[in-house]
Amino acid sequence: MITKYSAKISGTGKYTPDKIVNNYDLEKMVNTTDEWIRTRTGMFERHFVADDQAASDLAYEAALQALEAANIRAKDLGMIIVATISNDHAFPSTACILQKKLGVKDFPAFDLSAGCTGWIYAANIAKQYIENGVAEHILIIGVEILSQLINWEDRGTCVLFGDGAGATVISRAEPKDISRFIDTEISADGTHYDLLIQPAGGSRMPASKESIEKNLHTIYMEGNKIFKHAVRSMYDVCETVLKRNHMDVRSIDWLITHQANLRIIESLGKKLKIDDEKVIVNIEKYANTSSATIPIALDESIRSGKIRHGDVILAASFGAGLTSGSLLFRL
Ligand code: ACO
Repeated sequence: MITKYSAKISGTGKYTPDKIVNNYDLEKMVNTTDEWIRTRTGMFERHFVADDQAASDLAYEAALQALEAANIRAKDLGMIIVATISNDHAFPSTACILQKKLGVKDFPAFDLSAGCTGWIYAANIAKQYIENGVAEHILIIGVEILSQLINWEDRGTCVLFGDGAGATVISRAEPKDISRFIDTEISADGTHYDLLIQPAGGSRMPASKESIEKNLHTIYMEGNKIFKHAVRSMYDVCETVLKRNHMDVRSIDWLITHQANLRIIESLGKKLKIDDEKVIVNIEKYANTSSATIPIALDESIRSGKIRHGDVILAASFGAGLTSGSLLFRL
């Protein structure tokens, strides 16, 4: 591919619903303890939507912030990509609904299903369209309402998830910009597709009275097996982009990984030999919001002044599929 331009992140935003459920609240709902959740996962609070909120509502709020931060209007966008596994509807896409909410039309808008790696997959795609000159500004969003997919009869998974949206505007970088994408790698290992799955509600097992009674529309996960895959696959995609660009971990100012489990984040940090202070962690506040964890953490870190213009950031994720991906960029 002929690369004409560079891509950069020009604006970020986030939205998390008002309702906060902490570990003590969960103790009253299921057979669990604050101590177990904290020590096994690092989580304390998670945000849950109100009954009338859908994914596009959260995405819209995050998008407004990202557009403002990028100093552009929705009509300047050339594409919207929404990464989600909890769309408003099976179809049409949440991206098209968001496009309507933003009051714009006549450019591509689509959803992307890559589980928790969705935002990195979206960034990878946006990079191609910016670099080949087809679009100048692309809105990518990771949004999830996992509180509606929780199986409250499975204590091993029901404590892990939260709701939220993170939005990012990817723009064409000016030649004088220091901000730019350096590299990105995405991958998948479909042989393990059944380790993390919403079994019913698709064409393999359409919705039925029986599927609802058996909780088959909720998240099924084999946590232990995914844990091992998570560390290994994130390490591999990080090493790939670092090596390809003749960089090592000392050139990285910040590591932002998918926030699924503090022990996974720490294991990856250790394997990469990166200083603990360079690893962004906010899992205690939001739990696992799947495709939204990285853009939420990025937005929060930029707005708090922790991550600054010019910093080099390595983002990495893994998720249902099983997918994995990394994005190396200078903010
Ligand atoms: N409260 C109290 N005890 C619990 C709970 C709970 N909520 N859940 C499980 N336990 C118990 C189990 O019953 C088990 O007890 P036993 O030893 O008497 O049988 C014990 O705790 C240990 O259970 P494990 O499942 O072995 O616990 P583990 O240390 O593996 O932690 C966890 C489980 C947190 C799910 C971990 O495996 C994990 O985080 N895996 C990765 C998950 C992940 O990253 N998913 C990401 C993708 S998400 C996405 O794409 C949407």
